[in-house]
Order: sequence, then structure tokens, then C-alpha cells
Amino acid sequence: MIQPTLPAELKSALDAKLQGLPRSEVAARAALISKTYRDGGGSGAIRSETDALAYALARMPATYAAIAASLNALCEVRPDLAPETLLDVGAGPGTASWAAAQTFASLRSLVLIDDNAALRALALDFVKGSARLGELTYDKGEASDLIAKSDAADLVIASYMIGELGETGRNALAELLWNKTRDTLLIVEPGTPAGYARIIAIRQRLIAAGAHVAAPCPHDGSCPLSAPDWCHFAQRLPRSRAHKQVKGAELPFEDEKFTYVALTRMPTTRPYARVLAQPAVGKAEISAKLCTADGLAMARTPHRDKAAYAHARRWRWGDAVDHSRPPSSCA
Ligand SMILES: C[S@@+](CC[C@H](N)C(=O)[O-])C[C@H]1O[C@@H](n2cnc3c(N)ncnc32)[C@H](O)[C@@H]1O
Repeated sequence: MIQPTLPAELKSALDAKLQGLPRSEVAARAALISKTYRDGGGSGAIRSETDALAYALARMPATYAAIAASLNALCEVRPDLAPETLLDVGAGPGTASWAAAQTFASLRSLVLIDDNAALRALALDFVKGSARLGELTYDKGEASDLIAKSDAADLVIASYMIGELGETGRNALAELLWNKTRDTLLIVEPGTPAGYARIIAIRQRLIAAGAHVAAPCPHDGSCPLSAPDWCHFAQRLPRSRAHKQVKGAELPFEDEKFTYVALTRMPTTRPYARVLAQPAVGKAEISAKLCTADGLAMARTPHRDKAAYAHARRWRWGDAVDHSRPPSSCA
């Protein structure tokens, strides 16, 4: 399990780059980039070094936290996973590569792909001097062209990237990503209904191509959720002083909502269920919304069942529920 916070080496590289930059300028750029994303635009608004830094300060801690949470969930289901090679597509400032390097001591080759010159330059600055990431390869260009030329990797990640493509490009990219996946493909998206729709479409497409879901779903069947409901999770992370200044935020933490799918070549032993919302803990019972292989279930654990109640109290939104401790009653 890795922490949802930027590794110390990355945080100090980011802090060093921010030294001397007027916060008001970074805040103005961050606000513009956020507005572009909210209006459905992509990373094209990130053109200068200040833009890239503004993105890294405003978004990298949160996207790192979401990727870390997704990798933690994957590793819980696949404790044997020890990838040696990583392909990070739409790598931006290198967020997923840092999270993967923290997670897997086995990684020895990291290849990053992105078309954005400013984000690539910043990523290369961040890894300068890093023992773990200093030797990575970062290719600049259109993802589909570069993936086609890349070697297959044990682990392929596309985080917060596929939303920047149209449907046709996304479908083509999904197939390319899968073709280059030796073991596991992880796709992470914002936890919005649109992010979920993109994930679920790729999930369905790649299952049809032979993929198996390792996480979050405990099955390869159709998603049992229907609109207006959607599958997403939340990861809490602390806010730095600089982040609060740039975002004009008061709270010392933020909750990043995200959605993800980890697809594997070989079937995995899956948990009994995944917790789909923060359980409601009452005096009489704990109720938890679960996704199981048989569909959605509302698990109710009465207080009188002391051992089961104590166990269910530990469930958090996004957790896997083990087969050895299924809920005492499901409806
Ligand atoms: C929102 S950023 C996410 C960066 C990083 N993966 C993260 O999780 O923080 C999306 C990245 O995808 C890249 N990207 C989007 N479409 C691309 C394409 N067709 N080819 C190459 N890179 C692309 C953008 O340049 C940008 O760096």
C-alpha cells in the first residue's frame, strides 16, 4: 500500500520549481486551465513552464492520490504483481510513473508518452537526480503513433487522459493500449458520470477482446449500476499551503473523486464484493452498498452480531470485501 501523498522527492522538486514564482500568476494560470478542463477542453491550454507548474501544483497531488488508490486496490487483488516494465500514456508531469515506482520495487524500465512539450519538460525536471526515475524514457508525440512503435509493457497506465480524446480515438487507443499490455492495464478517470461512462465503455470493449477485470469490479459481467448512479470512489489528501493559496481554498484537505478499471490478461481471484459508497454506521446496524458477482446488494450487519458488526465497521468506500467475511445479510 502506498500513501496518497506525493513522494518526498517529488514534492521537494515541485516546491523548488515554485520558489520565486508569484503565486498570483500561478493561481491565474491554474484557474484558466481548470476552466478549460471544466468546459470540456484538454491539456492544450498548458503551453508554458508556468502553465505546467500551475497544473502540477493544482492537480498533480489529487491525480497522484487517485492513481495511488487505484494501484493499492489492484495490488490487494493481485499481490503477486511485480511488473518490470511500465508504459505511461498521456504521462503529463509523470504522475502515474511516480505512483507506479512507489508501488512496485520490481520496475526497471519506464517509458512515458505525451504530446505536451511543457508537461514533458517539467516531468524531466522532476526526475532529474532521482535514483528510481532518473533513467526513464519520455517520448514526445501523438499517443497512438508512439504506442504503435513502443514495446509491450507488463503494466500500462493511462491516467486522466482518455477524456481528451473523441469516442473514435478513444476506442482505437483502448485497443492499442491493450495490445501493448503484457499483464495489466490501468485506466483512471475523474469520478464524474462522463468519466465513468468512458471507463465502462472501454471495460466492455476489452472484456470482449479477452480482458478480465481485477478491480474495482468483482466480476466481468455488466455493470449493475444504472443512471443517475455511477461507479466512483474518493481519496482524501492533504492540501499544501501553496495549493490552498492557488485554489483559494480554506480546508486543509481535498477529496478527489475518481473512477478506474484494472484489466488483466489472466483471470484473478476476485474479492466477494466492492464497497460502492461510504457505509452508514447506525446503532442498530451498518448498511453498506456492495457490488457483487450477483449484482448490487445492500448489506445489513446488525449490532447484535458483534464480530460481524466490528468487521463491517472497518469497511470504507472503495474497499474490497473478502470471501472469508461476507456480510451477514444481503438484500
Ligand atoms: C490531464 S493530463 C494527465 C496527466 C497525467 N497522466 C496525470 O494523471 O496527472 C492529460 C495528458 O494527456 C496528454 N494527451 C492527451 N491526448 C493525447 C494524445 N492524443 N497524445 C499524446 N498525449 C495526449 C496531454 O498532453 C496531457 O499531458
